[in-house]
Amino acid sequence: MCGIVGYIGQDNALDYLINSLRVLEYRGYDSSGIAIYSPEGHIEIIKAKGKLNNLIELTKQNSQKGKIGIGHTRWATQGIPSDINAHPHADSDSEVAIVHNGIIHNFHELKEELIKNSQIIFTSDTDSEVIAHLLGLELKKGLSLKDSMLNIIKKIKGSYALAAISKSDPDTIILTCHDAPIVIGIGKEKDLFCASDSAALLQYTNKIIRLKDKQVAQLKPNGEFLIFDGKTSKQIAPQIQVLNADPVSLDKAGYKHFLLKEINEQPAILRKLLAHHLNDNLEIEFPELDKTLLDNINRILICGCGTAFYAGLMGKIVLETLAKIPVEIEFASELLSREILVDPKTLVIAISQSGETADTLLAVKAALKKGAKLLAITNRPDSTLSALAERANIFIQAGIEVSVAATKSFTAQMFCLYLFAIKLAENYKSIPSEQLNWLKNELRYLPQIMEQTLARGETYREKILPYAQLKAFVFLGRSFNYPIALEGALKFKELTYIQATGYAAGEMKHGPIATIDETTPTLSILLPGLTYHKTLHNCIEAKTRGAPSLGIIDDSDKEARQELHTIFEVPALPFSEEYKDFQDLFSPFISVLPLQLIAYYLAEHLGKDVDQPRNLAKSVTVE
Ligand code: M6R
Repeated sequence: MCGIVGYIGQDNALDYLINSLRVLEYRGYDSSGIAIYSPEGHIEIIKAKGKLNNLIELTKQNSQKGKIGIGHTRWATQGIPSDINAHPHADSDSEVAIVHNGIIHNFHELKEELIKNSQIIFTSDTDSEVIAHLLGLELKKGLSLKDSMLNIIKKIKGSYALAAISKSDPDTIILTCHDAPIVIGIGKEKDLFCASDSAALLQYTNKIIRLKDKQVAQLKPNGEFLIFDGKTSKQIAPQIQVLNADPVSLDKAGYKHFLLKEINEQPAILRKLLAHHLNDNLEIEFPELDKTLLDNINRILICGCGTAFYAGLMGKIVLETLAKIPVEIEFASELLSREILVDPKTLVIAISQSGETADTLLAVKAALKKGAKLLAITNRPDSTLSALAERANIFIQAGIEVSVAATKSFTAQMFCLYLFAIKLAENYKSIPSEQLNWLKNELRYLPQIMEQTLARGETYREKILPYAQLKAFVFLGRSFNYPIALEGALKFKELTYIQATGYAAGEMKHGPIATIDETTPTLSILLPGLTYHKTLHNCIEAKTRGAPSLGIIDDSDKEARQELHTIFEVPALPFSEEYKDFQDLFSPFISVLPLQLIAYYLAEHLGKDVDQPRNLAKSVTVE
């Protein structure tokens, strides 16, 4: 989604801005722009619809020499993607330029007032432009840019991360935020940076300050910065955070796409998580977790969005199966649609790769207000979610996920939830210790079997391409593979733009089967376990009505392969008769891989933008 960057220091700002915007490309955007305060004393704004390269081409036509600048990648919310709607936006006299992430909820009202009372002429369709005009009017009163910002944040409602520069206060970048992140980066040579995603800064610094809601920061070219409380206007002491993260690598490591690279990284991530959480004595440890988190808890509520929600659904199933605790799960956006029923005895588990998803953050804030406890499962220790959870974080350690479609973060989230569920099962003695030890040992085999599965990628490719012209697919799974059917369908539609719906296989005959004919393949997850035969029957019911039947089966399968038109074979997981109740417990880590790969290969075959599918944003920072 939208991204903000900024530079103020002794060097030319342009290169810093472009390099930082380059990193933010992964978030998904439809236009980009920069504003630089030039040595001649004016603000030069350059913006372009489409890819960042369009903007770079335009910058080559001029020589932007300024040492203070802000930049933006825009993912359209209010106003179509266009050159005009791209940020930065300026006021009528080009006195001030701003970049904005978020949504100004009262922009209609503010716009009307600005037109009526100040005869402002708007040039774009965005909500963001009101901010530039409001600041412009404050500056005309003779106020500094900082004081202007402190005044206007009392008028604007909604979510925002903002960066602004002005002609009348030329040696300054002003930042502020509310329900949207922005950080200051402290450079080595008195340079200061800012960004809405610290990933953009890691190439220059790992020392950051995360602004809190309604704080206003003032950055100066000599490396000085001051932070003010938006309500009292009083100066406050900054809290510097040192990030333990490598600069974002935009190297595809020989793969054609980041997506394929990330799919192939999954076994290594699980190994890393095993090394971090499971010691040689088969004890599971969560070093970043406050031990009192689980005291006095009588309820667990999981929330997230999209893929993170599906990982959460898996969490519910595995927590209920192993720890025998009833768990509720809700889309974060739905939790926000009514009163959130939590209390101090509720543990809310919020799952978010980015840790910046607006719906998830708002749901979490609402739950915290009611005293609920929070456990965050995130890939970003530097995120807002992680900060909200303080000492109750599980970091999925998947490394930066560049591709917009989530893959490695999904398996890493699931894996952390499995580890957590086993740990709780141990605490609550809900299943015998020998069984738990067996489960822990089994976890160790997963990366190897995942590698063997990924090695079959080319076969999966050959098998899915004949279906490339079909317009709708149905994905079926039960129990542990129900969330995988949902996630498989999501990945398929995100990447190929083909309609795909995931169902709990048992639900087929309660309605969805009406959509089935020869042009609607079903893709069933048919791995050994308690639900194998029931799922197979659902698959046959669809086949009987003409549906081409595709299925994920394992090498040992004898029955399903006879019923299926196309099989995607995966290696069999180790099996012990003694633990047959858990036979399908780990199969999601295997079944998800062919689903990710077929979505990838089909999308690639169809010529889709695999790493940045249309209309999608990596981190959805607006409600
Ligand atoms: O960063 P988050 O995990 O909170 O993001 C949640 C969803 O927006 C995300 O998983 C989305 O569904 C992806 N497009 C999935 O590929």
